[in-house]
Amino acid sequence: MITLALSKGRILDETAPLLEAIGIALDPAVLDSRKLILPTGDPDLQLIIVRASDVPTYVRYGAADLGVAGKDVLIEYGDEGLYQPIDLGIGRCRICVAARRGFDYQAAVGRGARLRIATKYLRMASEHFAAKGMHVDLIKLYGSMELAPLVGLADAIVDLVSTGNTLRANDLIEVEEVGVISSRLIVNQAALKTKAARLQPLLERFAAAVAARP
Ligand code: PRP
Repeated sequence: MITLALSKGRILDETAPLLEAIGIALDPAVLDSRKLILPTGDPDLQLIIVRASDVPTYVRYGAADLGVAGKDVLIEYGDEGLYQPIDLGIGRCRICVAARRGFDYQAAVGRGARLRIATKYLRMASEHFAAKGMHVDLIKLYGSMELAPLVGLADAIVDLVSTGNTLRANDLIEVEEVGVISSRLIVNQAALKTKAARLQPLLERFAAAVAARP
């Protein structure tokens, strides 16, 4: 049995068509269920549903042979021991600095103000501001970062922007790009050897489906 770890939401929604493209059918009723181990149309492939930030852990320890994880998660939580053969090109989004409309971020940076930045991306944020030579105070949050500048917890946030709807809904504007990210297929290195006969063809099918996309 091959096990593929995925998170619900953006990643599952965008991986499902790829799986269908390589001939692995998914039953919508199963996807909508609260079950955490999901069968697929391939009796030898099952999905497990985990939190996005836990995908690398399941794959690293071999509890899953494969996973789909955002580059943001791999940077933030580490990619040691993981083979990353394919950029799936899905889940494409940007990590940005955003602030309240009306907050002059560039002027604050220019005068060397020590800004408070709320984020769950501590690693990416600290590298970004260090590269700019800025001293900032990072405040770790686990979600709803957009709220922080609105209630005075932070001057700005570092967060993921996809459609931009969340920023707009909260009257925030993007003031700087930190990086562009997408989702990668990650593979347990030991499984790559012990299950090569089953995994290699699957990886090739994934690569071909990604290459064939318009
Ligand atoms: C992310 C991010 C933003 C939102 C951006 O949250 O933190 O809140 O998506 O997307 P948009 O630009 O399309 O509005 P996500 O839904 O991944 O949940 P999270 O709070 O668990 O990170």
